[in-house]
Amino acid sequence: MMSARSLRLAAILSATGSHIAGWRHPDCPADGSFNIARYVEEAQIAEAAKFDLVFLADNYALKQASNEELSRTSNSIAMLEPITALSAMAMVTRNIGLVATMSTTYCEPFHVARMFASLDHISGGRAGWNLVTSANPAEALNFNRDMQADHDARYARGDEFVDVVRKLWDSWDDAALVADKASGRYFRPEALSPVNHKGTHFSVRGPLNALRPPQGHPVIFQAGSSPAGIALAARSADCVFTQQRSIPTARDFYLKVKQAVAAAGRDPDTVRVLPGLVPFVGETGTEAQAKFDALQNLVDPSVGIQILTAVLGGKVDLSGFDVNGPVPEIPPSDGMSTFQANLLAEAREEGLSLRELYLRYAAGFGHWRVIGSVKEVADLIEEAFHAEAADGFAISSPMLPGSLGDFATMVVPELQRRGLFRMEYEGETLRDRLGLPRPLRVDPARG
Ligand SMILES: Cc1cc2nc3c(=O)[nH]c(=O)nc-3n(C[C@H](O)[C@H](O)[C@H](O)COP(=O)(O)O)c2cc1C
Repeated sequence: MMSARSLRLAAILSATGSHIAGWRHPDCPADGSFNIARYVEEAQIAEAAKFDLVFLADNYALKQASNEELSRTSNSIAMLEPITALSAMAMVTRNIGLVATMSTTYCEPFHVARMFASLDHISGGRAGWNLVTSANPAEALNFNRDMQADHDARYARGDEFVDVVRKLWDSWDDAALVADKASGRYFRPEALSPVNHKGTHFSVRGPLNALRPPQGHPVIFQAGSSPAGIALAARSADCVFTQQRSIPTARDFYLKVKQAVAAAGRDPDTVRVLPGLVPFVGETGTEAQAKFDALQNLVDPSVGIQILTAVLGGKVDLSGFDVNGPVPEIPPSDGMSTFQANLLAEAREEGLSLRELYLRYAAGFGHWRVIGSVKEVADLIEEAFHAEAADGFAISSPMLPGSLGDFATMVVPELQRRGLFRMEYEGETLRDRLGLPRPLRVDPARG
């Protein structure tokens, strides 16, 4: 039996997996990040296990490092553009949600509204947009800028951006199309409104050249956990991706989000909080530990230092420090601020060396990690869910292929046996799966 509050599961498909050394494992095809057959296979595994959605992350630049340094990692080097990949995946899946990142800093609202409206039509109401404000400074250099805008400025633009996107989705009434061949009327003229948005960052006349999406609005995800990120999510998001590291920290964040949603005048039960989770699972704890060790042993120390330098803000080059010594003082980051704060807190609390910290980050971008038997992994998920530390998890599989299949065939049946997770898909759209209402249209001409 399903409990009243249902667990949600997202599958983060990061190419060869979220472990930085996943691609070096003998079982990992090295072309995974640009081979659509691999994405399709993983999406079908997730769909067979009744996951709510698959998610493709994205950014628009290689990290700032030498070719020699970059050449030692497969992560964010060459990957398929997510909307293109999800459109292909939509044709060979039927139920699973299809969620991709697009940046409010480097895109225009019209592009985002149009692409996700199209994906929603292509997939029959399964699209979701992960709104990010972008944190990698190198991205600015690919978009006519010398440097990235500061954190608050990025969020201010993001806030207005999402309003414009929603107005564009609402520029058509749901029942606009009549296609009356006898009278020659294709759509009801009164069903179409311009947007006429004039704000601080955007001037957009509209309307959108796509009919209103099947879901009304594709599901909106937000993945920043700073105060500005929470405020944006409270006003505009349906789901929140977040990096957490334990039940107490996740619970604290969960409460903050739900309170902020209520303060913004929305029902907190209509926003889902999904922390990332990196599971290493085996029939026994020993088997899970062996899977973890096999990947950790493949981490190239120079890559470890390089990725840690970048996520901690890039201002302190860590290659000059003793890897077995303590983590030096690092100034606050304007980029991946929450990831930086979490990693530094762990390093200080547990007295981690630089090496121990890069190994933490290497295993799935520092997301909450669980290494254990099926029972141990399911216990953690159940405890976090009942403690209201999470509405579900974004499963960040350390190695693809392999890890998602392990989770799908071992942990999901256990979650189903406990009555925590669905046996069959309910409803038609991603909103239905997530238990989220379909937004009523606000006519932009009147709203
Ligand atoms: C599960 C998850 C997925 C994310 N995916 C992306 C992504 O695809 N692209 C990106 O630029 N940032 C991504 N981020 C990072 C955040 O969007 C955000 O930029 C970062 O956390 C800094 O924002 P903050 O200071 O508000 O926390 C992701 C974060 C999480 C927790």
